[in-house]
Amino acid sequence: MDKHLAEPISFNLAAADAAALKDLLQTTDKNLRDALLAAARTAAIKQFGHNIYIRGLIEFTNYCKNDCYYCGIRCSNQKARRYRLTKEQILSCCESGYQLGFRTFVLQGGEDPFFTDAVMVDIIKAIKTDYPDTAITLSIGERSYASYKAMYDAGADRYLLRHETANPEHYARLHPVKLSLANRLECLQMLKEIGYQVGTGFMVGSPYQTIDNLIEDLLFVRDFKPQMIGIGPFIPHHDTPFHNQVAGTMEQTLRLIAILRLMLPKALIPSTTALGTIAPDGREQGILAGANVVMPNLSPIEVRKDYLLYDNKICTGEEAAECNFCLQSRLQSIGYKIVVDRGDYKE
Ligand code: SAM
Ligand code: FES
Repeated sequence: MDKHLAEPISFNLAAADAAALKDLLQTTDKNLRDALLAAARTAAIKQFGHNIYIRGLIEFTNYCKNDCYYCGIRCSNQKARRYRLTKEQILSCCESGYQLGFRTFVLQGGEDPFFTDAVMVDIIKAIKTDYPDTAITLSIGERSYASYKAMYDAGADRYLLRHETANPEHYARLHPVKLSLANRLECLQMLKEIGYQVGTGFMVGSPYQTIDNLIEDLLFVRDFKPQMIGIGPFIPHHDTPFHNQVAGTMEQTLRLIAILRLMLPKALIPSTTALGTIAPDGREQGILAGANVVMPNLSPIEVRKDYLLYDNKICTGEEAAECNFCLQSRLQSIGYKIVVDRGDYKE
């Protein structure tokens, strides 16, 4: 038997109630914990084989008008060195990414008013013209219906917008009053309605998060049925109000990835950079707990250190090609391989 797999136990998490989920998150029974991760891993292999999809992350602006208490690029952080990539720089990231085998580009950034709908539409169209066989994922926060629609019509395929926490009081402890869970959820509904493949998710171990909050997150995600689910540990950033808070744990993150995989077997779930930051083998462990996507960084090396959401972020000194090679070997060492594929959600 595969050395990573424990004895099979079947978990019916498509219907599990809050108490059963809580038990899985809190159990000290190592056999049960190992069986959970093994079942999730088996479910991922059944769906995707040993193939891992890659998404090329282009962090194109760290200007942000928001002031989320946890985030290193919040507008109140005067010490952040701000940058914006030009359309030409973004296209050049795509070019090197395409050569390396990337068929999805993720344009992520703070909520930067410079990138109006017209500017975004122009960038999206340019990427789609040069690389028609690629998918474009956007991750640029809360915008209007008209804005989401214009970018979708221009060729954007997917949108990542973590709900961050499904509990409104908890949401209010992580964000200034201007931001609300209600608006975040409305954005998610709009994106779905327009036709994007939608990703949502949350931070694990964010300040004031309770175990019941995590259960609310799980139930929300199960109910919302996103095509993509992004979760990763909260990690403090030294220039934010949460600088003294404790980071989320790898163990909790792995259990949550496993539960989400079993709840939504077809979902695209990345093993995140944040997970790789809190543990040297975090991304490999995430894959072994049921994740099936990795998102290496394609941003120009000179701006990498400036897109610092949290402290000690990995891969800020490596070129795209180096990261790609490094990840390839890491995945190979656990029996997986990167595939050249858009990696769309399949019903
Ligand atoms: N502005 C867009 C948005 O709000 O969705 C995209 C960029 S935002 C920086 C991307 C994600 O980074 C957030 O959804 C949040 O979950 C995560 N993040 C921010 N600060 C973090 C921290 N200190 N630790 C871990 N993840 C963090
Ligand atoms: Fe970036 Fe290993 S993935 S250096």
